[in-house]
Amino acid sequence: MTTRQRGWRLPVALIALSAVPVLAGTARLVELSGGPVLINPDARFTASPLPVAVHIACAATYSLLGAFQFLTRFRNRRPGWHRTAGRVLVVAGLGVAGSALWLTLFFPPQPGSGPLLYVLRLVFGPAMVAALMMGVAAIRRRDINAHRAWMTRAYAIAVAAGTQAYTEGVGGALLGHSGLALDISRGAAWVINLTIAEWAIRRPAATPNRRRVAVAVGGPR
Ligand code: HEM
Repeated sequence: MTTRQRGWRLPVALIALSAVPVLAGTARLVELSGGPVLINPDARFTASPLPVAVHIACAATYSLLGAFQFLTRFRNRRPGWHRTAGRVLVVAGLGVAGSALWLTLFFPPQPGSGPLLYVLRLVFGPAMVAALMMGVAAIRRRDINAHRAWMTRAYAIAVAAGTQAYTEGVGGALLGHSGLALDISRGAAWVINLTIAEWAIRRPAATPNRRRVAVAVGGPR
């Protein structure tokens, strides 16, 4: 496999990770807009579709477009693209976290979930906003390493929605199907994603790429 092909592995893997919630969200949007029923109707969303529609649209944009921000070749060769996509992604990311908080605070709880998931959503929604803001602040002062670290953390928090598809399966098999088991399984997805993000941020092999990005965006050399 060539270096060019290897570079695509991460964005492809990230898109594959987000595929389950993005496809489920598309089915929900089709159902809410009066199309064929591809997913179990949910009376909470039928009664008030706006927040879930905003959430799904922003989440699909953020997870799919965001995956390409990790493509080193793209960043280096087309820094203009990285900057423009980045602005769109900050808005979409704030939309994901804001609508997630809206759904958590003002909708009846998700059937089958418990108070732990409620608290976790109240922690990780604002944490995602904070990470995005730290990422923006870092790039304004041309601190590329901090920018990369905070944007990686924000993305890791968001795409836990994809990881949850797997942790729910494993959690269901190991812990059963109680509300607490579902909450723990979903919470585990945030822990796993953030652990991988911290590893990726700190691994020494990433350093040369970061230096090239710094050069590409006119930052510190
Ligand atoms: C980019 C990643 C994300 C994707 C693709 C995504 C996708 C979705 C989808 C498709 C739904 C609708 C489920 C349905 O129709 O039954 C949903 C609901 C929801 N999501 Fe997300 N989401 C993402 C990130 C997040 C984050 C980071 C949080 C919290 C911090 C969150 C919190 C929620 C909440 C509270 C609901 C409502 C759940 C319910 O009460 O049924 N989401 N998400």
